[in-house]
Amino acid sequence: MTDFVHILAQIYERIKETPDVGIICGTGLSNLSDSIQNKIVIPYSDIKGFPHSEVAGHKSEMVFGDLEGKKVIALRGRFHFYEGWPVDQVVLGVRVMAALGVRAIVVTNAAGGLDNSFRVGDLMLIEGHISFVGMAGHNPLIGMNDETEGPRFPSVTNVYDPAFGELFAKCFEQVKTQEHKSEEYKPELRRGCYFGVAGPNYESRHEIQMMRIVGAHAVGMSTVLEVTQAAHSGIKVLGISLITNNCLGTVPSEYNVGEPNHEEVQAASKMAGNFTQTVVSRWIGQVDLSDRTPSPLAGKYSREAVATMMAARASAAAPAASSSAGICPAGAAALKAGTGGKCPVTGAVAGIKTAACGVDRCSFVAGSAVGALVAGLLLGAFTLLKKNN
Ligand code: HPA
Repeated sequence: MTDFVHILAQIYERIKETPDVGIICGTGLSNLSDSIQNKIVIPYSDIKGFPHSEVAGHKSEMVFGDLEGKKVIALRGRFHFYEGWPVDQVVLGVRVMAALGVRAIVVTNAAGGLDNSFRVGDLMLIEGHISFVGMAGHNPLIGMNDETEGPRFPSVTNVYDPAFGELFAKCFEQVKTQEHKSEEYKPELRRGCYFGVAGPNYESRHEIQMMRIVGAHAVGMSTVLEVTQAAHSGIKVLGISLITNNCLGTVPSEYNVGEPNHEEVQAASKMAGNFTQTVVSRWIGQVDLSDRTPSPLAGKYSREAVATMMAARASAAAPAASSSAGICPAGAAALKAGTGGKCPVTGAVAGIKTAACGVDRCSFVAGSAVGALVAGLLLGAFTLLKKNN
C-alpha cells in the first residue's frame, strides 16, 4: 500500500517552497527540466514508497526550481498503465503535486493523428478526452472516496481549462512568428479530443476507424488517468499532444502511409522538443494563477499536517518498539548499532522536540553524549594510571 504521508514527508525534507505549476514531462518536454534554475533534483528511488523505473536511459526524478518566474515541480519519468503499474501508481505524481500546492498542471504526450489534416510535428491543444481505459474500468477514482480530497462524482468537462488553452495558443503564435527559424519544421497548432487507450500496441485499422467515428482527433497511451486524478483533486490542466505519426485508416489514403512505429514517434519528439519546450516555458511565465486555489489535498497534507501525522506515528510506535523511553525505534536501533552523532530520523540534536519525530526531549544524542562522556572519563583515568606507574 502506498504510504502517501511518508512519501510527502520525504519530499518536504528536500523542498522548502510551494510550487505554483506541476509539469508531467511527457514526449516533447523530456528536457524541459534542463531550463529550470536553482534546481533541487530528487530521484524517485530516493523516495521510499515512490514507484520508479529501473530501465536504463529512463529519467526517473522530480525536479523542483524556478522557471520563468514561477516555482515549478517537474516529473521526469511517468508511469504508464501498459507497463503494468496499477492505476493508483500511475496517478500518484499528480496527487503528490496537488498536495504540494500546485495550482495548475501541464501534461504533454505523444499521439497518433486521427484527423486527416494533422501533420507529424503539429501540436494539439487537448480540449477534452475520451478515457477508453477509464471507461473500461481502470479508473483511479474507483473505490472508497475520501470527500476531504475530492468529490465522489467529479466532473472532467472543464479540467482542460479553456483559459489555459487560449494562453497556450497565444504563446504558440508568439514563438512561431518571433523566435522559430527552422525551414524544415513548421508546426501548426491543432485543437481536439484525445482518445486515451491502455496500449501498448498501436491500434488496428478498425480501432482507428472507431475513434474517428466517435470524434477523436488524436490517440495516445497516457494522460487520461492523470487528468482524471487532477479533476478529482481540483486542479486544472493544460494538455498538449505532439502528433508523432499518422494513424492508418481502413481505407488507405495518401495521408495514412504506413504502420506506426516507435522510431518515428521518437524522431518526431526530437524534432519538436525544443519548440514545444519554448512554448510551454513561455506559457508558464505568462499564466496568471492569482485567482486559482490549490487542491484540498494541499490543506490536508500541508507541511505542518504531514509533520504532525508523522510525529503521531512515531510516538505511537515508540513504546512498543523501543525499550528506552524518549527514543524512537530508529534512534534505538542506531544506539544499539553503536552509531553516534545526530538523530537518524531528524538529524536534530538532543533535547529538541522535532516535528518530524515528535519524541519529546529525545535522548538519542544525549545517550550518545553520555556514552562519549563515560568513554572520555575512562580514557582519562587510564592515561592517569599509566602515567603514575
Ligand atoms: N497510438 C497510440 N499511442 C501513440 C501513437 C499512436 O498512434 N503515437 C504515439 N503514441
